[in-house]
Amino acid sequence: MSIKNPIIVALDGMSWDQVLPVVDKLRTTGCILKVNDLLFREGFRNLLPKLSVYGRVMADLKCHDIPNTVANTCRNLRACPPWAVTVHGSGGKEMIEVACKELQSVGTKVLVVTVLSSIDPKTCEEIYHRKPAEQVMELAQIAKNAGADGLVCSSEEVSELRGRFPKFTLVVPGIRSSGADPGDQKRISTPKVAINRGADYIVMGRQILSAKDPVEEVNRILKNELGIYLNNM
Ligand code: C5P
Repeated sequence: MSIKNPIIVALDGMSWDQVLPVVDKLRTTGCILKVNDLLFREGFRNLLPKLSVYGRVMADLKCHDIPNTVANTCRNLRACPPWAVTVHGSGGKEMIEVACKELQSVGTKVLVVTVLSSIDPKTCEEIYHRKPAEQVMELAQIAKNAGADGLVCSSEEVSELRGRFPKFTLVVPGIRSSGADPGDQKRISTPKVAINRGADYIVMGRQILSAKDPVEEVNRILKNELGIYLNNM
C-alpha cells in the first residue's frame, strides 16, 4: 500500500472553462496536470499561474528546434516554473543541454521524449531506420549525456531503461485499462504493467477525461488497478 499518486492527467483539447471544473475536482487526488494545446491557447504567462493552483504542472511542449529557440521558450517558463517540461530527444544533445541550463535555477525537470507511443514499429523504421527499442536507447543515452532529468517512453521500453538509467524520472504515456479504447496509441499497456516495469509516472488522457466522473475513474484506477489508497478515499 502506497500513498503516492503516479497519475499524470493529459488535459488535451479543452478550453480553460472546460478544464477548470475538472482540475478543481482532481485537486484532492494530487494528479499532475499535463498541458499542451491549452498552453498555446491561453499563453504561458496566463495559464501557468492559474493552473498551478490546482496541482503540479507538466508543460508538454515537446520542444524541437535550434538550441537558441528552445532556450528562449524555456526562459519564458521561468515566470511560473512548471514541475516539468518536455523536449524531443531527436533535437540533440546541445538542444537538451540549453533547456537544462535555462531551467536549472527554478527546478523544472527536463524530460526527454524518446519515440512517441503513437508510433508503431513500421513507422519507426520509416522515420529513424531503427526498431523503437533501439531508437529509444539511443535517445536515452543522448538525454543522459546532456544532463536531462528523465524520459518519456512507452511501457515497452521502460524496464530496460529503468535498469540502464536508474536515476531517471520515467514517464509513460499510452496507458489504458484493459478493454479501454486505445484511440491513436499503438505501444500501449495497462497502468499496473507500466508501474511494475519501473515507470515513475503514467500519463492518461482520454480514458480519464471521457469517464462520467473523472475523479471516480482516477480513484478506481489507483485503488482497483494499482492498490494505491489516497487519504481522501
Ligand atoms: O489520451 P491519451 O491517454 O492517449 O493521452 C496521452 C498523452 O500523452 C497525450 O497528451 C500525448 O500528447 C502524450 N504523449 C504520448 N506519447 C509520448 C509523449 C506524450 O502519447 N511519447
